[in-house]
Amino acid sequence: MDTHKTNTVCLLLLFISSFSSYTVVTSTQLCSNSACRRSEPLIRFPFRLPNRQPEPCGYPGFGLSCDATNQTLIKLPNSGQFRVQSIDYGTQEIWINDPNNCLPARLLSLNLSDSPFLGVFYQDFTLFNCSLDYTKYRLNPIACLSGSSYTVFATSNTGAIRFLSAKCSLVGTITVPVQWPFYEQVLSSDLSDDLRLTWVAPKCGRCESRGGRCGFKSNTSREIGCFNAPQHGIPRSARYAITVGAGVPALLCLVGLFCYVFGRVKSYNRRNHSTGEFTSTVAPQPTIILGLDGLTIESYPKTVLGESRRLPKPDETMCPICLSEYRPKETLRSLPDCQHCFHANCIDEWLHLNATCPVCRNSPQRSPRPRDS
Ligand SMILES: *[C@@H]1O[C@H](CO)[C@@H](O)[C@H](O)[C@H]1NC(C)=O
Ligand SMILES: *[C@@H]1O[C@H](CO)[C@@H](O)[C@H](O)[C@H]1NC(C)=O
Repeated sequence: MDTHKTNTVCLLLLFISSFSSYTVVTSTQLCSNSACRRSEPLIRFPFRLPNRQPEPCGYPGFGLSCDATNQTLIKLPNSGQFRVQSIDYGTQEIWINDPNNCLPARLLSLNLSDSPFLGVFYQDFTLFNCSLDYTKYRLNPIACLSGSSYTVFATSNTGAIRFLSAKCSLVGTITVPVQWPFYEQVLSSDLSDDLRLTWVAPKCGRCESRGGRCGFKSNTSREIGCFNAPQHGIPRSARYAITVGAGVPALLCLVGLFCYVFGRVKSYNRRNHSTGEFTSTVAPQPTIILGLDGLTIESYPKTVLGESRRLPKPDETMCPICLSEYRPKETLRSLPDCQHCFHANCIDEWLHLNATCPVCRNSPQRSPRPRDS
């Protein structure tokens, strides 16, 4: 082994390490964690509370504030203030919601293009303004946008969009940064779940996952550094300090330590990698069955009640959907498999949205479509 050459390398490393420990002092002693109150998200680089943390402690576009009740707020350009629900510094993600509890209203004007944030998963929803009696359907109304005589729904289900287009007025289609990818179309959502956003720059996730603290390398530089990674991550500065303590000639120790560090980092990365894989393989959402088409529904048996009201099932005198008694001359439809019976109008509307019997939840058999009717 060429001891002289390795000594030179070590001295060089020592020089670099003394430089980086200098930046540790300037960047991290000035910047402490903050929060609006105890239960609120911890605020540190790249986020910053302007009245509590000096400017170099945050990244442009990541300014936060506290409202009168000490909730954490973020102001997104063109989209206004949102409440910060949580921040994950390791995965570089932030969850936000509307401080006034009507997120769908905010989504109608959300535009992230001038902000440092973007969605992790997106899903399109179409909003409708309806005057129909939604209690008949498994639709979840958006209460804060609805009034006494109209109800607003959001759906991403093509069957429901077709159905509601015919009955309601279109409010608009919005692209929502949802928390999880939906593998199936969502029949309806009140869109109250937090929005999940991520940021690309500054890249601090790796540093944070190792337990380090991210920040500008100096007050004048825009370069990002990782500081104060604790023992288990074996930060560079610690490695160099050990080198000095043991004496530069103790090269064998250094080699041993490097092997150890390398092994630790590798196993740590492996662990990190596997948790990364875990979070990216999201359990599929439960399947939402689409409604049936008109021809299939028409193929189910229909009867018109006579004056004597002879019912297909004498003990079932009431439509389970609208809960009113069957009357003479009304048209009833029964489902082929389970024989449950309903007003034809009621069950037809239902089946356009749901391919299951509203009473027993069985899927009526999709009979072969009549080709010539
Ligand atoms: C969002 O804002 C940008 C710039 O402010 C604009 O160019 C873009 O058209 C907007 N997008 C939508 C969907 O309004
Ligand atoms: C829904 O329609 C009603 C009138 O039918 C209107 O007053 C209300 O503003 C509409 N809401 C939305 C969100 O479009």
